[in-house]
Amino acid sequence: MTLDDFTSACSALAAEAPARIAAADSLDAWTAVRNDLVGRTAGRLTAIMGTLGEIPKEDRRVAGQAANAVKVELERLLDERQAELATSRGAGPQIDGTMPSRVTWQGARHPVTLVVDEIIEIFRELGFTVALGPEAEHAWYNFGALNFPADHPAMDLHDTLYLGKDTVLRTHTSPVQVRTLQAYPPPVRVLIPGTVHRRDPFDASHAPAFAQVEGLVVDEGITFADLKATLSHFARRFFGAGTKTRFRPSYFPFTEPSAEMDVSCGVCGGSGCSVCKQSGWIEILGSGLVHPAVLESAGLDSTRFTGWAFGLGPGRTALARHGIPDIRILYDSDVRFLEQFSR
Ligand code: DAH
Repeated sequence: MTLDDFTSACSALAAEAPARIAAADSLDAWTAVRNDLVGRTAGRLTAIMGTLGEIPKEDRRVAGQAANAVKVELERLLDERQAELATSRGAGPQIDGTMPSRVTWQGARHPVTLVVDEIIEIFRELGFTVALGPEAEHAWYNFGALNFPADHPAMDLHDTLYLGKDTVLRTHTSPVQVRTLQAYPPPVRVLIPGTVHRRDPFDASHAPAFAQVEGLVVDEGITFADLKATLSHFARRFFGAGTKTRFRPSYFPFTEPSAEMDVSCGVCGGSGCSVCKQSGWIEILGSGLVHPAVLESAGLDSTRFTGWAFGLGPGRTALARHGIPDIRILYDSDVRFLEQFSR
């Protein structure tokens, strides 16, 4: 191998390379051309450089410089072509400019969780703390301690899910009233959020498992006036300052007297709409003065202590607040629905 042979091999490569590089019309084709021209293992320039040792010693420096000049030039052309291919349409991965941009999902708290948290916040300002109880509950706490008569229909297999002879999935959060009074001496002011279970069909207004929030106040000298004032205050804080309340006589085994509280419909302002079924009012909660038998169940002297309690369904409250007609949407886990409720 002479210096001339070497430099003419270099020039031949330099002469044919630009057309081949320009002809590479995809990144794959470009890679193949690059490997053929300057690849480290099978590249033609590498092969030429491999013959350097066969050239007379005194010519090697010039030969090396010639090869190096070709290498620099080829790499410049290759880089240029690669940049063109990467930015031009039709080369490399296809980009569809009409695709909608990617959505980043934003987590949000469930509308029922928001209602529960808000209720707890409002009552916390009034000195209430939070108490919890078990979902698998002794039938005595769920019914007997709450003054349900032995033949009350709620205890029927039809309405209640029994886990065993004396164990039920609690049908309401009221049993935690008794557990709390057994554990803490009055004065008691607690809020009891939790999940409850009923043997109900899943339809637009019933779910077999749903949230409840219970409230309980027990002390000396507590009256129905405390109940009315506190619950009306709550309604105005939760639904807005102009909200009216009304109390209708009702019946629960564990309260006497008992009352259901309605609030003026926030959707129509009381004139009547589909959310309030044209009545102008929405039923929000059950309440009453704690029955003396319940206080005695918990070991309290019912001639000394009195109290009031309430129970509400935050799911229904969320529906009323947003004017949503079907409770099942709360259970669908559809992010398009859920992500609207962040505060
Ligand atoms: N436990 C009742 C239910 O599940 C709700 C309730 C009504 C709770 C009146 C109370 C109350 O504390 O005083 O339907």
